[in-house]
Amino acid sequence: MTEKKLQGQVAVITGGSQGIGRSVALKLAHEGAHICLLARNEDTLNHVVAEISNLGGSACAYPVDASSNEQLTFTFEKIKEEHKSVDIFIHLVGGFKKIIPFEEITEQEWHDVFQLNLTSAFLSTQKVLPIMNDRGRIVYMGSIAGSGPNPYTKSYLPYGVAKAGLVVMVKHLAKEFGHRGITVNCVSPGTTATERVVAIRGEQGIRDLAQSNPLKHILQPEDSAAAVMFLVLPEAAGITGININVNAGSVMN
Ligand SMILES: NC(=O)c1ccc[n+]([C@@H]2O[C@H](COP(=O)([O-])OP(=O)(O)OC[C@H]3O[C@@H](n4cnc5c(N)ncnc54)[C@H](OP(=O)(O)O)[C@@H]3O)[C@@H](O)[C@H]2O)c1
Repeated sequence: MTEKKLQGQVAVITGGSQGIGRSVALKLAHEGAHICLLARNEDTLNHVVAEISNLGGSACAYPVDASSNEQLTFTFEKIKEEHKSVDIFIHLVGGFKKIIPFEEITEQEWHDVFQLNLTSAFLSTQKVLPIMNDRGRIVYMGSIAGSGPNPYTKSYLPYGVAKAGLVVMVKHLAKEFGHRGITVNCVSPGTTATERVVAIRGEQGIRDLAQSNPLKHILQPEDSAAAVMFLVLPEAAGITGININVNAGSVMN
């Protein structure tokens, strides 16, 4: 039997209980990584932990609001206590609930979107790096919105600006922590048929949008999970500071 590629590694996945995060968690667990799943709702976390166990993998749940610095501190201390060190950190927490016209965006809304999509990445990376093993892997979840407004549908400005910040952050971190062999990269999905996004855009909206990409492909969570999987494999040790678009060709840059 061939050895699993991530056997013995500890992977921390924020936003791992639903959508793209759940798909990433299942993929990494399948390759033998022990998964530390972070999200707010304990029931959905436990559901994915059970799913992974039923498939023969191993996982544990850490309920946390990634918008709270205190809660993140507590959680990463607990992870250190229970696992000693981390090999892989995937930060998927992010998103938005509705598109608000520019003139109506309040300062609080701007702050909340940044807290969820960018500050949470900064804070949790600061906490994971001291317990990350050399040659570790960090992957952020960006967005097609991070390279500019979506040419085919409405985009949400604060979200796009925050996601663009992630793309720059990976370059700085890749340079600063390269001496430890740690790679830092970003995966930027196009509109993907997760429950949250179907609720915002509707089934038909998602199908219509897929007609505007060159592949006519409705993006699924597994599409982005495959890119994350590639970046954490031993074979990708030489790839750092990049952003991989997973958008069926909607935007090419
Ligand atoms: N789906 C798309 O079309 C799309 C496109 C481009 C980029 N993305 C990006 O991909 C990532 C995942 O998107 P998705 O559509 O898969 O999201 P999703 O289905 O809404 O899942 C979000 C995950 O994050 C957790 N979460 C949300 N807020 C949190 C918080 N404050 N603290 C801790 N956990 C939190 C959720 O669990 P709880 O609610 O229990 O906390 C859930 O596990 C996001 O960063 C999003 O911006 C998605």
